[in-house]
Amino acid sequence: MSYRHLDFKITDAAGPGQVGVLTLNRPSALNALNVEVIEDLQAWCEWANSQNDLRCVILTGAGEKAFVAGADIKEMQSYSHDQAERMSLTGQKVMQTLEDAKFVTIAAVNGFALGGGLELAMACDFILASNTAKFGLPEVSLGLIPGYGGTQRLSRFVGKTLARMITLTGDIFTAQQGLDWGLFARSYEPAELMPSALKMAKTIASRAPQAIGFAKQAINQGYDRSQIEGISFEAELFAKTFTTEDHSEGLRAFIEKRAPQFKGN
Ligand code: CAA
Repeated sequence: MSYRHLDFKITDAAGPGQVGVLTLNRPSALNALNVEVIEDLQAWCEWANSQNDLRCVILTGAGEKAFVAGADIKEMQSYSHDQAERMSLTGQKVMQTLEDAKFVTIAAVNGFALGGGLELAMACDFILASNTAKFGLPEVSLGLIPGYGGTQRLSRFVGKTLARMITLTGDIFTAQQGLDWGLFARSYEPAELMPSALKMAKTIASRAPQAIGFAKQAINQGYDRSQIEGISFEAELFAKTFTTEDHSEGLRAFIEKRAPQFKGN
């Protein structure tokens, strides 16, 4: 498939499982999310979700400066209320599709992740950052608020206290602050970011795919339930893993002291 502002490459096949890198490629605008990029992302998500062997995708930004510097400010300038609502709903749907993807997504944040860029990163399963990356939800400094899920996802990452401070000041913060606040768990020297993300992606691709899917569901769908409901949902999914061939292989491989060969069944 070809896209206007996305490059996608399969970089590694660990057993039947593939690892891919999706690069947002619009460096002249610091990879800002205009309508074309959002349409590309929507089409790519649909395609990627139809692939059986895709296990883990790393999202990153082209160039050295930015992951994604937000929604396209120039494009939004003439928007009416209705156009803004459509833009928000369409972008939110793309972010939700990414969050619900049957494969794992890692945001490798290599530079600015601002506004829609941070919202895109937070729609991934987790974030890894270059120690020179910069983050923020600067929308209030433009007279806007985050529209791609930022007001909802940020507090789920860092808690309400920090989410309020970050969103209401609109200030840019550093990778060290992001680490301290628990927005992500690891940061790297810029040159180490992609090799480290790829290593982690390969590890994920070597695990049992259905177990990975169930674990994602348990965490994501359990999060907004009460703990009692969440653990009951967990038990349902835990039991489901026992209907997979991969669970037999995983348990047998442990007992036979060998590496498991998962097939995704
Ligand atoms: N939209 C459109 N173009 C953008 C852009 C954006 N979000 N961010 C950067 N660009 C463009 C600039 O206009 C510039 O283009 P020109 O050369 O044609 O003028 C080019 O990218 C390079 O940017 P700068 O010259 O500004 O680079 P800098 O190093 O001086 O500053 C920056 C970098 C701090 C990231 C700055 O570009 C910036 O503040 N960008 C906007 C960040 C922002 O406010 N994002 C939130 C957008 S609103 C949103 O995302 C809403 C939502 O939730 C959906």
